[in-house]
Order: sequence, then C-alpha cells, then structure tokens
Amino acid sequence: MYLVFPDVATIADFVADALASQVRARPESVLGLATGGTMEPVYARFLERVRQTRLDVSRLRSFNLDEYIGLTPDHPQSYAAYMKQHLFDVLGFDPLRHHLPDGCAPDEDGYCRHYSSAIYQAGGIDLQLLGVGRNGHIGFNEPGTAFDSTTHVVSLDERTRIDNSRFFAEGELVPGRAITMGLRDIMSAREILLVATGAAKAPTLAAFHRSGVTPELPFSVLKQHPRVRIVLDAEAARLLPAQACQPMVQAVLPARSA
Ligand code: F6R
Repeated sequence: MYLVFPDVATIADFVADALASQVRARPESVLGLATGGTMEPVYARFLERVRQTRLDVSRLRSFNLDEYIGLTPDHPQSYAAYMKQHLFDVLGFDPLRHHLPDGCAPDEDGYCRHYSSAIYQAGGIDLQLLGVGRNGHIGFNEPGTAFDSTTHVVSLDERTRIDNSRFFAEGELVPGRAITMGLRDIMSAREILLVATGAAKAPTLAAFHRSGVTPELPFSVLKQHPRVRIVLDAEAARLLPAQACQPMVQAVLPARSA
C-alpha cells in the first residue's frame, strides 16, 4: 500500500514527524540519510520540529548513503556540502556521530569496507530515508547492482548524470563515479521510508508496482523488506491503481498553531 499525500508540503510534515518520533523514542538512533531535491523540504520541516519542540539531537547518529568520487567536502555540489547546508549547520555536525562517504579516499576498496563495517559497529540503521532515481536507483545503486552489495564504487548511469546536472553549474560535469552504500546495507535497516514526489517519478513507481523483485529495478528489492513505507505525492502516484493507494489527507496533518 502506498501512502499518498496531496502535495510536497504534507509529505514533508509526515516524514519530519516520523524522524522526530524516532529521535524522541530513541535519542541515540542511527539514521540513514539521503540527499537530493526530494529531501530538501523534508529536512527543512525536520529542523522546524527540532527548534519548536527542542528535540534533543545531541546523541543522534547518522550515515549518508552516497557521495560523488572526486568532490571534496567543500565542493558546493558534494553531498557533504548539501548535508551541511540542509541539516548539519543547524543540527550540529560531529564527525564521530555523523558519517558521509569520503569521495576522495585514496584506497577506495578499503574505504568501502570500512564504511559498511562502521554501520554495523554502530548497531545498524534504525530508520533509513530513501529517495529514488527515475531509473529506480536507491543511494547510487544503479540498475544491475547485486542485492548482496555493501558499500562500493559505482559508475553513474547516463540518465542519473543528466538528472543531477540540474544541481551543477552550467558546463560543469557531473562526476562519472560515486561511492554508495550497497543494497544489503540498505536492506539491513530496521525500518525504511522511501519518498518520491513529482510527475517525473510516476513511471518509476508504476514500474515498481508491476515489477517483480529484480536488480534491473534496484528499489524493487524493498518489496522484500518487512518494514517499509512508500510515501508519494499525488503526482508521483498518478499511474498507480487507486486500490493500491492509501490517501493521506486529514489524518496526518499536524496541528498547526494559528
Ligand atoms: C541521494 C540518493 C539518490 C536520490 C535520487 C533521487 O543521496 O540517495 O538515490 O535519492 O537520485 O534524487 P532527487 O530527490 O533529486 O530526485
């Protein structure tokens, strides 16, 4: 069943509330974090919750899904810079608690092994946030990625590079390679929340609905996870059968002060 919200704002409220509840229930939670356009309103709303409810985030830990290879953390299009801008400038960044893959690690394979084992040493991810690419990638696990993959280096799909070029300056090339948590790392999370918004994602969700579990559509692996919620806006859900969609309107609107 897909949870379908009228718009991006109501989704952001819902996901921000889910994150806040997780942190309230377990302040030392380990979150798996995504970047991308979809998450920007989510993080903005989450920071509002943190401020309004004085949520204690001092013990929170996190692991980001991915990073471009070759971009240093101060490069404006690195995911490290994205996280700083959208979350950590306000939340506070402690490198011992908040982890982002290092896109400039000299020993790539050794570093990948280290990143996956750090997740397990932290006790595993409690709540994993995911966006999805139009080709069905999660993290940067492009079509064809093995389901038992751990953190690894990938060559990005041409479609992913075109989609992500909107975040780069005109004429600036999107890196061709990235480091990403693997599908096994993602599937090890105790709970998963995948968010997709906008009409461009509608065919991807329709393919997911029709598809069996196949590496050709990487996020189809989520069908095998026991605790996954797929959260969509009306546009992303537009090609899904109505009976598979649970409309989320009044029930989740948070009480806003006048
Ligand atoms: C980024 C990530 C990617 C994005 C996906 C959707 O950390 O994990 O899988 O979630 O590319 O990106 P947007 O939200 O920009 O459509």
